[in-house]
Amino acid sequence: RIIFLRDYAPPHYSIEKVDLEALFKQDSVRIRVLLTVVPAPDTPPGTPLILDGNELVLRSIAIDGLPLALTAYEATPDRLVIHEPPNRRFALETEVFLDPEKNTRLMGLYRSNGVWCTQCEPEGFRRITYYLDRPDVLARFTVTMRADQALAPVLLANGNLIESGEESDGMHYAIWEDPHPKPAYLFAMVAGDLGRITDSFTTSSGRKVDLAIYCSHGKEDQCRYAMDALKRSMAWDERRFGREYDLDIFNIVAVSDFNFGAMENKGLNIFNDKLVFARPETATDADYDNVERVIAHEYFHNWTGNRITCRDWFQLCLKEGLTVYRDQEFTSDERSRAVKRIQDVRTLRSAQFPEDGGPLAHPARPDQYREINNFYTATVYEKGAEIVRMLATLLGEDRFRKGMDLYFERHDGDATTIEAFLKSFEDANDVDLADFGRWYTQAGTPAVSVSENYDESSGTYQLTISQKTDPTPGQPDKVPMVMPIRFGLVGPNGGDMAWQSVAGGRVEGDLIVLEGDSATLSFTGLGAKPVASLFRGFSAPVRLTSARPEADLLFLARHDADPFNRWQALQDVAMGLMLADLAGRPWVDQQITPLAAALADTAQSDTLDDAFKALALTLPALNEVARSKGQDVDPAAIEATRERLITDIVSRIGPDLEALYHAKASTAPFSPDATQAGQRALRNAALALLVKGGAPVGPGLASAQYHAAQNMTDRLAALSAAVSRWTADAPGLLGDFRTMFTGDPLVFDKWLTLNALPTHDETLDRIKAILSDPDFPRNNPNRLRALVGAFAMNNLVQFARPDGLGFRFVCDFVSDVDQRNPQVAARVLTGFRIWRNLEPSRRAAAEAALRDLAEKGGLSRNTADILTRTLQG
Ligand code: ARG
Ligand code: ZN
Repeated sequence: RIIFLRDYAPPHYSIEKVDLEALFKQDSVRIRVLLTVVPAPDTPPGTPLILDGNELVLRSIAIDGLPLALTAYEATPDRLVIHEPPNRRFALETEVFLDPEKNTRLMGLYRSNGVWCTQCEPEGFRRITYYLDRPDVLARFTVTMRADQALAPVLLANGNLIESGEESDGMHYAIWEDPHPKPAYLFAMVAGDLGRITDSFTTSSGRKVDLAIYCSHGKEDQCRYAMDALKRSMAWDERRFGREYDLDIFNIVAVSDFNFGAMENKGLNIFNDKLVFARPETATDADYDNVERVIAHEYFHNWTGNRITCRDWFQLCLKEGLTVYRDQEFTSDERSRAVKRIQDVRTLRSAQFPEDGGPLAHPARPDQYREINNFYTATVYEKGAEIVRMLATLLGEDRFRKGMDLYFERHDGDATTIEAFLKSFEDANDVDLADFGRWYTQAGTPAVSVSENYDESSGTYQLTISQKTDPTPGQPDKVPMVMPIRFGLVGPNGGDMAWQSVAGGRVEGDLIVLEGDSATLSFTGLGAKPVASLFRGFSAPVRLTSARPEADLLFLARHDADPFNRWQALQDVAMGLMLADLAGRPWVDQQITPLAAALADTAQSDTLDDAFKALALTLPALNEVARSKGQDVDPAAIEATRERLITDIVSRIGPDLEALYHAKASTAPFSPDATQAGQRALRNAALALLVKGGAPVGPGLASAQYHAAQNMTDRLAALSAAVSRWTADAPGLLGDFRTMFTGDPLVFDKWLTLNALPTHDETLDRIKAILSDPDFPRNNPNRLRALVGAFAMNNLVQFARPDGLGFRFVCDFVSDVDQRNPQVAARVLTGFRIWRNLEPSRRAAAEAALRDLAEKGGLSRNTADILTRTLQG
């Protein structure tokens, strides 16, 4: 069954209040719920009330205290229908029993390490009780939890704790009340034996908020960084968006079994513990960044998501794209803006571009779905954030803020839409965003090509910019996008040139706004031919397809006022060389030497910061090269080209890299701050190049660093470098790493990923051996993603082995895991989205594996949906 946006209709009944009572027993949880139901004003009398359920068994039911006759309702695991409900406000009471221990799907109420916890977004609440489980039904919740004090000394739910106490027989209870009406997907409960750290934050209007982070006993110290990030997030949202927190309590709980990153439940965020825990010995700088980023993200949802929520799930991007934009801005303000931008663009290119260019492409606001869980995608999140960023770019900071203010003012308490969001910006600034709005409804990454012409005699520079978007599933014909192109015309001295006049298109200051298929801009009054720097700061999520002269790119790499484009220019040169090589035109010395020199000079610059330099030394990833190549991809050939490019670079600047490596050594005590992390990143980028590029000193440096490392960043970087070229001691170091950290599941994940990534042919057997160990935690999503997810997404060489065994293995895995956890299975299967871009024999092998999986049948809706679309698209 397909659900269409155009079929949206408001509910016939609203739910004013939910009184939920949970009794936690070792082997089951009893849920009693009293719903205050009100028919909508125009609901015809006798309209059945249809509540959602999922795997529920109804134990008792009453309306206004009177048990219901069997003929008055129909209860199946999937729904509860009250045939003729009263035509007035009434109280519906139901009772069900849950078996959280058996809930391996990790949606609804389940148990992780003995702790009861919930995940309701998007449709998990219906696995806890029969309900109108849709985001436009907002209710006030009161939750009473009861449990054996020894089993669950901690009882948490949304909102404020209004009462708690002990009862007979060692039982105790807690009553939580959330004053803010909310959709059921924001409901949460946690019961168990947990440790915690506490702190407090006073909001700008003087509300003192008690903060706590709960975790398994013994891990409390690892929560300090998350707490610090939380307080900084709260302060930032006040400063930057004028948004204050609105309850007296804010709780975070870290759990070990979780299907994704974290969840913004009102006042009770629940996190995958890998996004909470951080200490220098076991967490890398990247882990610290992620903790900070996700803590901020979930906190920011309190306004963009919770106070203002989505009318329906087609609007998911309304909260996710906007909240990702907000967390990106937070990180940019707290750390280096240019570095953050580069990192985000790399993520976009490696995760969203392949999605947008393959069979699973969909608009940021989809208009149909079979399974909404399959739309928590890079398109909705990351491209969604890019759309908000373009809006901010087009409007400018002040007008963007005015639009946000109006959105908050107008829609506080609403379940609303993307249209309403855009309307706030239109009304606040008296602008028309109808054409811009297509970014939300049209899928696909626009390809942009540029050509130029300079007329020496008149000093006129002409720039022709054209866009084209390829068809995507269900959208054969594409319209042009409104595209903000931040730009500069860089003159011979390296500075931006001023022009006298410009004609032929919309230019506003340093912004070209491309509105149609193509525009030719004529700039007059230039004394010399400029080098155009376009899409500064990556001002629109597009692919630039026209090749540019290497000399121009290397000039920009050295001089562009925009750091993003300095980085981009180096990437473009490297990408151009690799693509030409793959097309049978190997690079020559006159090409590689200037690139190597530009890299060395960038790394030695005394105006650029270390974190930026580290990114400059990081060449395009294999996935990015594959995406740029487009068709007939042979991943092994790309890997070979890439390794050769790095080898040729290192053979020229090896000594510079080695000197840099030694210069960046530090004995300072560890701090996760951006400066120190940048220094480590640069040193480790140099090391990675030396090892991957086959420098004779490489393996020794890696091994020495591995053993001497005082923190996980340096240890893992050394190990990854060794593994990336499979140096002689790589296997030994891997074994050592495994034993050094036995008992720490999050470090085990790093080890699993290192085993999944080597591009040599033994990798698959290694993975199979690890998986078949009887002790392997085969129901934990983090473990499965770290091993098989990493293999399917980030080891294209082995996943797409010519013999098809990589594809077969992933399909077998998916079919097995799907029985227990469809979301994990469906996510891993999306690794196949690139299959049509492969060269013919690999393509055939992929298709055969997918068809066999389809034939086997018995798949969950999640996995069947991904499979069908992957094969069709
Ligand atoms: N709303 C959560 C967040 O972005 C994620 C929920 C993911 N849910 C899912 N079914 N994939 O912070
Ligand atoms: Zn989110």
